[in-house]
Amino acid sequence: MSHSCKPIGIFDSGAGGLSVLSELLRLMPKEHYIYFADTANCPYGPKPHSDIIKLVDAITKFLLQKNCKLIVVACNTATAAAIDYLRANYPIPFVGMEPAIKPASQNTKTKSIGVLATAGTFKGRLYIETSRKYASDVNVCYQVGEGLVELVETGKANSPEAEELLHRYVDPMIDCNIDHLVLGCTHYPFLKPVLNKILPANVKVIDPSPAVVLQTQRILHTNNLECVKEGNDTFTEVDFYSSGQINVLRQLLENNIEVDLPINVSYTDNVVLRHNL
Ligand code: DGL
Repeated sequence: MSHSCKPIGIFDSGAGGLSVLSELLRLMPKEHYIYFADTANCPYGPKPHSDIIKLVDAITKFLLQKNCKLIVVACNTATAAAIDYLRANYPIPFVGMEPAIKPASQNTKTKSIGVLATAGTFKGRLYIETSRKYASDVNVCYQVGEGLVELVETGKANSPEAEELLHRYVDPMIDCNIDHLVLGCTHYPFLKPVLNKILPANVKVIDPSPAVVLQTQRILHTNNLECVKEGNDTFTEVDFYSSGQINVLRQLLENNIEVDLPINVSYTDNVVLRHNL
């Protein structure tokens, strides 16, 4: 294997990172991806940042053992808690999730935007700094999406329970006249069908994944790490690992991800990682 055909690591507390993986596969289908879902420890949102650092440290060691050349932290909460720690402690590039406050604040006409994220993401330096920098003259209605990750993880993203909870979280934002809703958690794009039913047509839903994936591509290119496969060698390769059960991940993958190339997929569940929580 040439250096650049090493895999790209990607992880989340669970299945949410698939919303990022689907964009990665669309833009860079020839790469080999290793996805780790920390299903046994999901959700991360309510956990202290110190615990999340220990969890993602163990995942990072696992992905490095698999020879990953770059890691995408496909979880806003883990990015908020641990991206500085990871960059300071490991020699490979890490790409984290960006709260998409900037495009929402720059494009709002009503001067009012909504942000839906986990408690852990709102506590992070990144969210606080980005809001100060870009949203000081904008009314930001923020809401912790408590319970939403659990609905996605149990295959209930498109259910009456999801609709009821989202009404509770989003109706007050509509009353505040928002015209942009930032999805600050990688699980939330799976709730888009229900959100589209609830939100007025003028409200634009912003998923930061495409921007994060473009940034991943830029970093691979700058560091000469892109995978070059030619001729008959062109296929997509994804290995999934989970610290719990893999079934929801598998179902979301089959229902939501489209790839142009033939795809080789492997699944391994109940992976035990060592961390001293
Ligand atoms: N997908 C994670 C995020 O983007 C979910 C957090 C959680 O597990 O609560 O924040």
